[in-house]
Amino acid sequence: MNDFQKELCANLSRYCKDTIEPHMEHDDAEGKFNMDFFKGLGSYGVTGVTLPEIYGGAGLSYLDYCYILEEIAKTSVPYAVTISVSSMVQTILNEYGNQKQKEKYLPALASGEEIGAFALSESHAGSDAGALKTTAKKTEGGYLLNGTKMWITSGGIAKTYIVMARTGGEGSKGVSAFIVRDGAKGFSFGKAEKKMGWKTSPTRELVFENCFVANEDLLLEEGKGFMVAMGGLDRGRVAIAAIGVGCAQRALDEAMKYSLTRQQFKQPIFDFQGLQFMLADMALEVMSSRLMVLSAAQTIDDEKTSSKLCSMAKLKATDAAMKVTTDAVQVLGGVGYTSEYPVERFMRDAKVLQIVEGTNQIQRVVIARHLKKEYEQHA
Ligand code: CAA
Repeated sequence: MNDFQKELCANLSRYCKDTIEPHMEHDDAEGKFNMDFFKGLGSYGVTGVTLPEIYGGAGLSYLDYCYILEEIAKTSVPYAVTISVSSMVQTILNEYGNQKQKEKYLPALASGEEIGAFALSESHAGSDAGALKTTAKKTEGGYLLNGTKMWITSGGIAKTYIVMARTGGEGSKGVSAFIVRDGAKGFSFGKAEKKMGWKTSPTRELVFENCFVANEDLLLEEGKGFMVAMGGLDRGRVAIAAIGVGCAQRALDEAMKYSLTRQQFKQPIFDFQGLQFMLADMALEVMSSRLMVLSAAQTIDDEKTSSKLCSMAKLKATDAAMKVTTDAVQVLGGVGYTSEYPVERFMRDAKVLQIVEGTNQIQRVVIARHLKKEYEQHA
């Protein structure tokens, strides 16, 4: 970390610990998202980290962004996720949007005044995203959207949605991407999901019933929606990986603190070699994940984004988060399973990191397809 990154993370850490942390246990139990916390994070410039300054972003690197997400995730995985998904929407608009779209939608997202959401999944089209059924039929001046999107992070609290819908035939080539605003006629919210973790981040169904979207809110052109979604997800997966690192680091911190103070058999439990090996393995998982995340982030900064490396980082860091948080609960024993300590919350929050933005099985599919291509090219 350079001096700038250290200072930014130290300031963020103070804000998270002083302002968000005291509410996490209660808000997790109540399933309560707090917009003031999100706006507070926005005041540190972290709700639009990589967006250019002309659109209100901080104009920082993806590497900076990963350190920032890691820092926030040490206090709250759900708030880090809200930022990462909203940032993915900004990345998509900045990369694939036209000038008018960027000027219209980006500043409010970058400042943290508004939240962005990404709507790809449907009940029968999760991993097989190209099979989505929501339709966008041409009408005068725009399109009429019909269908239902499922498991949408920030559904209901977001104002700007990137919605993938079918304008053409079957498969990925028939998919287009649209910008839809909360409040659009024919756009409503379905059921709010009851989840194991990420309780302070709402997950909601989106319902489109003859929802009119103007031509000017189509991204790129018809048929480019799958590419838009996949391009956004490549980078989004690295952000999820960075959150995994923060989640795992916090669990390790809690396990270390506890093991050094908890006495059993007249000694700190840390002094048992069985626990030392476990903690050493946890630290190894955290560090190896962080290095992979930073390596993937560097390729993004170098404009050499590698889908393979993005998937590898997501797979490694989120599997590590699950393992390290589970082990942290084990180190704390009975008390680790209660809400007296935060490790059980981080364990619950880690689980869905292995599922969102492509399950870790899908990450293996992406990696294997790239491997095949590379080896066939060199055969
Ligand atoms: N960047 C740009 N284009 C890409 C791409 C990428 N990373 N990956 C694929 N494409 C293009 C391909 O080049 C191809 O185009 P051509 O035919 O012109 O070459 C087209 O997209 C189709 O590609 P595939 O044949 O590889 O597509 P597929 O149907 O076999 O699916 C998949 C590939 C990797 C399995 C993909 O469906 C996938 O990633 N599934 C997982 C879906 C997912 O991640 N959902 C996340 C939901 S959002 C979420 O969780 C966010 C949240 O709220 C937290």
